[in-house]
Amino acid sequence: MVPTGSMLAVLAVAIVLPVVQPFTIPCVGCTCFDKDTNHVIDCSGRNLTSVPDGVRNQGDVYEINLSGNKLTHMHYSDFLGTTAVKVDLSDNQIRNIDDGTFGVSSNIESLDLHKNQLNSLPEALTRLRKINTLDVRDNPDNSDIPINLTNAIMKEMGDTIQKFQFGHRNLDHWPPTISHFQDLQDLTLDQSSDQLKVIPPMAFHSFQSTLLVLTIKNTNLVAVPLGVSTLRRIDEFHFDNNVKVGNEGIVAQAFVRNHTTLRTLSLINDNLSSFPRALAYIPTLRNLDMSNNGLEFISDESILNLGITNLTMHFCNLDRIPGALFHLKHLTRLDMADNKLVTVENNDIQNIPEVTNLTLARNPIKFISNTAFGNHTSLDSVDISYTKLTTIPVAFNTTHVDNINLVGSHIDCMCEYVWVSTIVNNFEGCCANIEERIEDYVRKYVPLCPEYIERYGLGRTAEADLHAHIQSLDKSGC
Ligand SMILES: *[C@@H]1O[C@H](CO)[C@@H](O)[C@H](O)[C@H]1NC(C)=O
Ligand SMILES: *[C@@H]1O[C@H](CO)[C@@H](O)[C@H](O)[C@H]1NC(C)=O
Ligand SMILES: *[C@@H]1O[C@H](CO)[C@@H](O)[C@H](O)[C@H]1NC(C)=O
Ligand SMILES: *[C@@H]1O[C@H](CO)[C@@H](O)[C@H](O)[C@H]1NC(C)=O
Ligand SMILES: *[C@@H]1O[C@H](CO)[C@@H](O)[C@H](O)[C@H]1NC(C)=O
Ligand SMILES: *[C@@H]1O[C@H](CO)[C@@H](O)[C@H](O)[C@H]1NC(C)=O
Ligand SMILES: *[C@@H]1O[C@H](CO)[C@@H](O)[C@H](O)[C@H]1NC(C)=O
Ligand SMILES: *[C@@H]1O[C@H](CO)[C@@H](O)[C@H](O)[C@H]1NC(C)=O
Ligand SMILES: *[C@@H]1O[C@H](CO)[C@@H](O)[C@H](O)[C@H]1NC(C)=O
Repeated sequence: MVPTGSMLAVLAVAIVLPVVQPFTIPCVGCTCFDKDTNHVIDCSGRNLTSVPDGVRNQGDVYEINLSGNKLTHMHYSDFLGTTAVKVDLSDNQIRNIDDGTFGVSSNIESLDLHKNQLNSLPEALTRLRKINTLDVRDNPDNSDIPINLTNAIMKEMGDTIQKFQFGHRNLDHWPPTISHFQDLQDLTLDQSSDQLKVIPPMAFHSFQSTLLVLTIKNTNLVAVPLGVSTLRRIDEFHFDNNVKVGNEGIVAQAFVRNHTTLRTLSLINDNLSSFPRALAYIPTLRNLDMSNNGLEFISDESILNLGITNLTMHFCNLDRIPGALFHLKHLTRLDMADNKLVTVENNDIQNIPEVTNLTLARNPIKFISNTAFGNHTSLDSVDISYTKLTTIPVAFNTTHVDNINLVGSHIDCMCEYVWVSTIVNNFEGCCANIEERIEDYVRKYVPLCPEYIERYGLGRTAEADLHAHIQSLDKSGC
């Protein structure tokens, strides 16, 4: 088959159209581009040992990225005259930052220093009058002693910092100087040592009325910090990859509150084997991610009356859709990708009638019971990609699903799918037995099947439609 001239023209235009509009400043050795309307100088990953001259005195620059280079020393006037608001110096070997590096009237609001060789916070930070976002994780990289969060400098930044990230694999105590951050909204602790087993209950005291997002990950903590219960406005709490926690570590006292505000909670890879009972103390909870925990059992009591709308449980070793989910009356999105489901049984999905988006991707599902969905009326989108299904499950006959994803499942396309064409709007995926998309098979081939003609008659244009389709090139990768 030969592409038509007009198709080639469309292709050519698509290739020639530039994706980013470069802005016109000298940009020797780096890449300059516009992100939305902001000018960016990207010098990342170039083995640079010094800041290129072009970076200096660039008016009208929003972001400078020097991440992943070999910078060791930031010099006086390296950023002289820049207007940059965002500077990324992460993943270098910076040991020293001269006091005048950022000039006197710096615009910098966001500075990424993570993964460098800083032994203590550089004095130069105190010149950044507008700094609100700072990342000092992994400093000094490959050293035993974590960065000193020096009192005077933390205090100086305390008025403006809103987002702070810290942590080191040898961090063995909660740094008291964080208490200078009285307007903190977003805090991340990433990595700590075996020695830091619990975070003191008063650790978050200084920002208990401002903090909205808390992330604690990759630590050896044994429990959720009790201080979480003191955070009056907390909206999101991510407590992930803390493998020493276990069921006992999700302590109810960390969540008991008169007026809860927490809406999003992740407890990914915390060595949990059951749904924590403590969740019952968070009536405001809407989004829960329990991925990467070997969940053995989800009891009715642990899940009763929760208002969760969005539940994610990837890699949880589950071999059944838990019956207890029946209690989640408001659940609209259930994502159980990467579990061990082999079958989906009678009523499993009918039991959760508000679910609109269901993901069962990458489960070894061989069979979906014809009555699994019942007459579910809410289902909108079902992802059963990369399963062991070989036919489109008849269970869908009683639903009005908009979109079914069958990519990577080896679906045989057959004349039996007469019923399919009347209920599903959109399929993703290819037939295993013919080089066609399932969607095209159902729309173009099925109308010529005897079963279809018997029921609906031969459509006036059915033959011509199939012929035109076969002539066209549009196989979309099947
Ligand atoms: C950086 O240096 C390493 C080896 O020193 C080399 O493999 C790599 O290609 C260099 N990268 C660039 C962007 O020059
Ligand atoms: C800087 O570049 C690195 C590597 O390309 C990238 O990972 C990082 O996200 C960039 N930083 C910003 C602030 O965009
Ligand atoms: C951190 O730095 C301050 C000021 O330089 C010093 O007084 C303090 O002892 C240092 N802390 C540690 C743990 O080294
Ligand atoms: C996870 O919890 C189990 C007990 O439920 C315990 O035997 C195991 O050691 C824990 N794993 C880690 C990494 O702490
Ligand atoms: C919770 O409410 C009780 C009674 O309504 C009150 O005595 C208590 O002080 C409140 N606790 C907090 C932390 O606000
Ligand atoms: C549901 O939760 C997942 C995983 O935590 C998240 O990626 C997704 O954005 C959430 N969806 C909505 C609609 O909140
Ligand atoms: C549900 O699935 C549809 C179709 O795939 C998608 O457009 C939509 O964003 C999904 N909604 C949620 C809440 O994940
Ligand atoms: C279908 O739904 C109705 C209520 O909407 C219910 O009464 C009926 O039992 C359901 N039928 C099946 C087969 O589940
Ligand atoms: C699909 O449902 C209709 C009734 O709505 C029924 O007549 C038909 O036999 C069903 N198809 C299959 C394959 O079960």
